[in-house]
Amino acid sequence: MASIPSRSQGAARKASSIPGEHASAQGEEASPETLWVHSNESVDRERVDRATGPDTSIAAFRPVPRTGVIYVTTEAVRMGFGKSRSEWCNLGQGMPETSALEGAPPRVSGVQLDPADQEYAPVAGLWQLREAVASLYNQQYRRGMPSQYSAENVAISSGGRAALTRVVAALGHINLGHFLPDYTAYEELLDIFRLIAPIPILLDGERGYSFSVDELRKEITGRGLSALLFSNPCNPTGKTVGGEDLAAWVETARQLDCALIADEFYSHYIWRPDLTAMGGRLSAARYVDDVDRDPIVILDGLTKNWRYPGWRVTWTVGPKKVIEAVASAGSFLDGGSSRPLQRAAVDLLDATRTRQETRAIARHFGKKRQRMLDGLRDIGFVVDSPPEGTFYVWASTAHLPPGLDDGMTFFRAALARKVITVPGEFFDVDPGKRRGGRRSRFRRHLRFSFGPPMSEIELALSRIGQLVVDVASKSCDETP
Ligand SMILES: Cc1ncc(COP(=O)(O)O)c(C=O)c1O
Repeated sequence: MASIPSRSQGAARKASSIPGEHASAQGEEASPETLWVHSNESVDRERVDRATGPDTSIAAFRPVPRTGVIYVTTEAVRMGFGKSRSEWCNLGQGMPETSALEGAPPRVSGVQLDPADQEYAPVAGLWQLREAVASLYNQQYRRGMPSQYSAENVAISSGGRAALTRVVAALGHINLGHFLPDYTAYEELLDIFRLIAPIPILLDGERGYSFSVDELRKEITGRGLSALLFSNPCNPTGKTVGGEDLAAWVETARQLDCALIADEFYSHYIWRPDLTAMGGRLSAARYVDDVDRDPIVILDGLTKNWRYPGWRVTWTVGPKKVIEAVASAGSFLDGGSSRPLQRAAVDLLDATRTRQETRAIARHFGKKRQRMLDGLRDIGFVVDSPPEGTFYVWASTAHLPPGLDDGMTFFRAALARKVITVPGEFFDVDPGKRRGGRRSRFRRHLRFSFGPPMSEIELALSRIGQLVVDVASKSCDETP
């Protein structure tokens, strides 16, 4: 085995070009002792392996990193997840449960195909759906305001990541700010389009991951940011910028001409009482003055807020000129979203129906959030910031017994008990791996999803609780 340079720039890429480098690491069963805990060298080796994915052994291709959720799912599949899905608890999942909820509109169970559905849809999306999206934003957030969104302010795409990719592909030669931690998919996204320079901005658990408008102003002016990408509510921390704060962010972006690219995929999962009082959903659209001049670009879709992740119907809302650029990017990147599902989506965006779905989500997921928070705290996790939005709890292992007090080690141990979680370091996004393999500030954190049904959450909590008891009593027995 050739030695792998640690902490050097681009270590992952260099290592992956060594033929056969990953063969044994991929093939053998990963053991916590060798890979995760004891030696820095083995930690580095695992980091490289994790970062690069399988070696394709074809010179033309680079090993493309897996996102965190794909990595943990792949590891779970190695241990039997998939074959025996029902025995597993998937607290790693990035999707909400998709079945009927009490009080929610009935689930769609069929989609009629028209002869025209055999043809391409326009790359920017069906006009009817673009109108429906614009109308929903106007009704929900812009009643009585002179500037209103129209179909030309909306582009439809096939999934949130496709929408993000289009937006980033349409950016110029700029500095783009992004927060740490944030959504894992931003890592590759912000690396492959070489025109932009991604500038990381640190958020701290001690401050509840908050970021004031003064700090925003300082970052934009001091570092020359022309755009800021952020998930709001944030995946993984659940931190949410809303109300007057969000109004001030939008005002600052307008004054300083810095585009806010607001990823609002969890904007109907709101838990902060002052924001639930405003209707239980939020959008930067509420604070836009002129829909065609303010540099505010919003992404959302059916994936989480309507609980139809499989439909791959999402949208970008912004100034007409931005939408034209985004649609042009779509014409070479993806070609647009499915035509029949776009037609079917129109009815889902009815304002009354959407309100009903949001209320049902609030009731049902609110209970799961509380159960997850209480359960994790009882087990010994530290939650430095209870989620204000999303369906995730971001918790630290710092007070767990030795052997479980690290996100990766815990992940491995929980996997052996058929519980899937996501280690926090995946959210410490590092486009281009420029930090050179330094240990993550979030290596002790994990993200726990309360997307699955309550019964799965209960089972997972009892398994994790037992794991902690077992490891704690073992370490007591071993103390001389
Ligand atoms: C913050 C955030 N944005 C966007 C998406 C993308 O969703 P999609 O599955 O539609 O690509 C996700 C999915 O996990 C997400 O967490």
